[in-house]
Amino acid sequence: MATLALVASSCSKGPETNATPSLHEAFDGLFLIGGTLSDSMLENPSDPGYNVVAKHFNSLSPENCMKWGRMNPTPTETHYELVDSFVRYGSQNQQALVGHTLFWHSQTPDWVYQDAAGKELSREALLARMRERAELMAKRWGDEILYWDVVNESILGDGSWRKSKYQQIIGDDFTEQAFRIASETLPPHAKLLYNDYSMTDPGRRDAVVAMVKDFKSKGIRIDGIGMQGHWLMDFPDTADIAASIAAFAATGVKVHITELDIDLLGRAAFFGANVDAEKLVATPENNPYPDGNLPASEEERFAQRYQEIFEMLVQQADHIERVTFWGVSDKTNWLNNFPVRGRTNFSLLFDRNFQPKPAFYRVLETAKKR
Ligand code: XIL
Repeated sequence: MATLALVASSCSKGPETNATPSLHEAFDGLFLIGGTLSDSMLENPSDPGYNVVAKHFNSLSPENCMKWGRMNPTPTETHYELVDSFVRYGSQNQQALVGHTLFWHSQTPDWVYQDAAGKELSREALLARMRERAELMAKRWGDEILYWDVVNESILGDGSWRKSKYQQIIGDDFTEQAFRIASETLPPHAKLLYNDYSMTDPGRRDAVVAMVKDFKSKGIRIDGIGMQGHWLMDFPDTADIAASIAAFAATGVKVHITELDIDLLGRAAFFGANVDAEKLVATPENNPYPDGNLPASEEERFAQRYQEIFEMLVQQADHIERVTFWGVSDKTNWLNNFPVRGRTNFSLLFDRNFQPKPAFYRVLETAKKR
């Protein structure tokens, strides 16, 4: 009887109980498992998402509060509070913390590129302003934060540099200068990462490899490559993801999957049509399960997709330092509002009631298959 009960409980695939294994413990020795703290979680310490975060993640990223525009919406305002809470929470729980992100073209206000009179900064002045931000980060949170997304998304799919404001003012060495600044200001224990999406695009993949080699030949520190991992149900192929992981690892850096979620509802068609994402609205066609009830066949398809991805990641575990989910549960994952506002999307391992989904149990199984 006792044996039977044990078998039944370890196979139990229902709601979270004390007997539900911890995800990060299951992947111990393979890679860290992370999630994010959103601003609303940081503002509400009794958010039910903390039950998931405390048990299942041993790494944490701030979803928004550390971005330049959130910290400094204007040149005279600095918001430390939410980042302080993030760092305090993660340190108390011994979670490996991620600084996301030092320099990104998005969620960065125009004042960053301008002087007090609104005139565009010179290259030197912008570099000095970037250094100030890195120094502030290092001084306040340098001891506690381990990983830093130094630059986010500066390379396009064809391998060229993104024509961001940074690139226009500083030039093609924007990313290089950012890494120089980071390595000169952040403490020696900091791990410096380049982070980007669609890392299976051959042009972007090759350019990232070339960049890492270039930095290494110049003695510029770079410790890891972050593949965001905002993936779809049928794209990219796991073989292509594995090829990128292997290509990055071959340069001697670790790979981090930094923002994993799977967009069940899909979006390729919207982007294919090149529609302005902000103007898209939910319709019965693009939002088929508004009440949050997913048909069992779709739940199964979703679980299979997560399973194939994690089987590949486990195979590549020697190259991978961390796998971070972009969020905690389907309730607040950003894909409910991107690229269409107000959809009921399904993207993570925990459902809208913070309960483990079939995909959670399928992912757990992959940790044992090594
Ligand atoms: C997203 C957040 O999840 C949203 O809440 C916010 O409105 C926009 O940014 N790539 C990144 C992340 O590096 O910072 C983005 O996060 C998702 C895409």
